[in-house]
Amino acid sequence: MKENEASATAYAVMQGLLHIGRANTYPGLVSAETMETGTKILSASPEGRRRIAQLSSPLMKAAVPLIEWATLPGLTLHYALRKRYIEAAVRAAMAEGVTQVVNLGAGFDTLAWRLHLAHPEVNFIEIDHPATSGVKAPALRQIGTMGDNLHLLEVDFTTQTLADRLGGLSGFKADRPTMFVCEGVITYLTRDEAGVLLQTLNDLCAVPPRLVCTCVVPAGSPDDNIGPFLGIYLKLKGEALKWRIAHEDVGPFFAEHNFDIDEIASPTVIKPRFIEGPLKGTLHRSEYGVIARGVV
Ligand SMILES: C[S@@+](CC[C@H](N)C(=O)[O-])C[C@H]1O[C@@H](n2cnc3c(N)ncnc32)[C@H](O)[C@@H]1O
Repeated sequence: MKENEASATAYAVMQGLLHIGRANTYPGLVSAETMETGTKILSASPEGRRRIAQLSSPLMKAAVPLIEWATLPGLTLHYALRKRYIEAAVRAAMAEGVTQVVNLGAGFDTLAWRLHLAHPEVNFIEIDHPATSGVKAPALRQIGTMGDNLHLLEVDFTTQTLADRLGGLSGFKADRPTMFVCEGVITYLTRDEAGVLLQTLNDLCAVPPRLVCTCVVPAGSPDDNIGPFLGIYLKLKGEALKWRIAHEDVGPFFAEHNFDIDEIASPTVIKPRFIEGPLKGTLHRSEYGVIARGVV
């Protein structure tokens, strides 16, 4: 990403989520609380306000299908399903005793904000690049008083290590059962960096951690329906995809780094969990969910 600018993809995810929520194509898919919090987060920055204004522009609304075709067909629905999938995994882990949730590359995600006041017994940590975090932190402070159980940690993964930064954060409790969230982020790491990340998660925790993340299938595989211009767009934004992995390679790769897989869920599996009835449009298929747990 560009050094001094908050992540363009973090803005795009929240803008896409607000678009599908406003369209109300699938009532209830994006909760009112998510809509309200996401709108407030974007409203706190000039770029966010520009993107909110775009949501009401007739020209922009008409252009969404073309933008989706060019980049990620089914993009805005995909963001909504991806967020519901992650939230369900986090809530399930909390119900099973997880008391710490760490979101790696949280962007403008609302989950930790929404859950932290209702769950004071759970410690939430959001980690992001200083440029993105620097926009989100004041936005959250404008929304309300942040509880003691929500921590925002600035880390630039290109120059700093998670082990040093998270390991050195007094708010991080290594002995708590922890779930890490890595939504739409692993694909921006190289294969080696992703391996180091997995190993680091295990090393940081006294209790084997859990992880919910998303991965992207390799170009040209049968499930790949990424559009023709996504690569160019992401390169221009300095956020090129670096690593993609097939469903069948996830188990061995994670095992190499001491994680067992609980679930690999493609969008075709995820969709009926959150939408009853037929699909109204295209389902993005390239990115899928993975739930795993550390074994050491
Ligand atoms: C595609 S966005 C995903 C945001 C969020 N997880 C979501 O899905 O809503 C990628 C995120 O990775 C973060 N990121 C990119 N490069 C980074 C770096 N070098 N260090 C830390 N975070 C980085 C960006 O700031 C951005 O928030």
